[in-house]
Amino acid sequence: MEKIFINGGIPLKGEVTISGAKNAVLAILPASILARDVCVIENVPKISDVSNMLQILDQLGARTKWIDDTTVEIDSSEVNSYLVSHDMTENMRASYYLIGTLLSRFSRAKVAMPGGCNFGVRPIDLHIKGFRALGADVISKVDGLLDVKAENLHGAWMSLDIVSVGATINIMLAAVHASGTTVIEHAAKEPHIVDLANFLNSMGADVRGAGTDTIKINGVKRLHGCTYSVIPDQIEAGTFMVAAVATRGEVLIKNVITKHLESITAKLQECGAYIEDNDDSILVCCSERPKHCNVKTTPHPGFPTDMQPQMTTLLAIAEGTSVVSEGVWDNRFQYVDQLARMGATINVNGSSATVIGVESLHGAPVKADDLRAGAAMLIAGLAAKGLTTVDNIKFIDRGYVDVVSKFKKLGADIWRGSDDQPNVLGGTA
Ligand code: UD1
Repeated sequence: MEKIFINGGIPLKGEVTISGAKNAVLAILPASILARDVCVIENVPKISDVSNMLQILDQLGARTKWIDDTTVEIDSSEVNSYLVSHDMTENMRASYYLIGTLLSRFSRAKVAMPGGCNFGVRPIDLHIKGFRALGADVISKVDGLLDVKAENLHGAWMSLDIVSVGATINIMLAAVHASGTTVIEHAAKEPHIVDLANFLNSMGADVRGAGTDTIKINGVKRLHGCTYSVIPDQIEAGTFMVAAVATRGEVLIKNVITKHLESITAKLQECGAYIEDNDDSILVCCSERPKHCNVKTTPHPGFPTDMQPQMTTLLAIAEGTSVVSEGVWDNRFQYVDQLARMGATINVNGSSATVIGVESLHGAPVKADDLRAGAAMLIAGLAAKGLTTVDNIKFIDRGYVDVVSKFKKLGADIWRGSDDQPNVLGGTA
């Protein structure tokens, strides 16, 4: 089993280029099969979640191929199945987007309930409510398959009880070909919702208002292929921003949309970081010990829950005491036990954590509990004194492209290796 090894304590310095957005591409790839044609998707991150999604599309009858390191071609003209089984979905939350997509294409979808990161109960009741409002019958089978079928998908007005990224996207996908107009009130506004809407419109769909609380989808009969470039990853960019501050470094982060980073920028400035916004790049510097601040995660444009573990890690070495409140997920502080092994003092009480900043962390063997918890372990290891070993790195590979090489280029002493040969692959420990 490979692990990531880090000899921490080196300020990160230099430039890093951000890859395409994981959560956007995981909606765009399944959506591409609505074209029944060839789509070319650019700026695709080469991560394991993308490989899994492409494999599922291939199994459904699509022909997918990488044209270069960041471009994928998908020919969906011969997609011929609406069945997505357990072995296809077990590792990936975003597989639920196949329900909306297949329902749209075949008026039928049989999809196994998704896997993915486990940070509390992850229901899909709002997705189901949305499909039903569009005229679909939804049956949850004893074998764990969700069977969704519709004689005639029709537009409908609906208001989501909770702002849900997944439900907003799934309903958009299902409504693309529905007759008439669908209105989603209380819709999620994340950058990847806007990116999906732009992609659907590039294929000939009529989706308006994405990025606001109200999204309108006028059903169209047919879509067509297109070439589309995915937005940069907000969370990958945020992770490098926090790592720059935690190591008291100076990093120019390229290929970003700085508007998407505003809530993260604001918190890092509160911590004392210097941040220069250059539109498509952002410079992050910090020469002194970061200061404490309070953070509450909320849906976009608030502070993203997917940056909570990384930010909590930074606050663990900040001056003073901070309170981090999790406003999206029930149970997203499991990783603090790992940080405690490195000397952090964090007390969790329900959905908030009190973080008493310590002068520094020390290296230790830790594990990634999920994708962003894994990113937090990397940041902790980069900032800590001594050797940190991060186990369970398959989670990190789900969402970060070449993360070890990117940190290495910034001067970090970081490498992948097997447990018994930590020094062979380039480390200096
Ligand atoms: C997506 C992201 C995930 C991120 C999350 C919130 C992807 C693949 N994953 O997950 O990284 O952390 O948005 O930004 O894009 N809820 C319900 N019923 C539902 C759906 C959701 O109660 O039917 C609740 C959830 O339990 C959670 C909240 O709504 O408390 C938000 O979840 P949602 O926005 O749907 O998250 P995901 O789309 O699963």
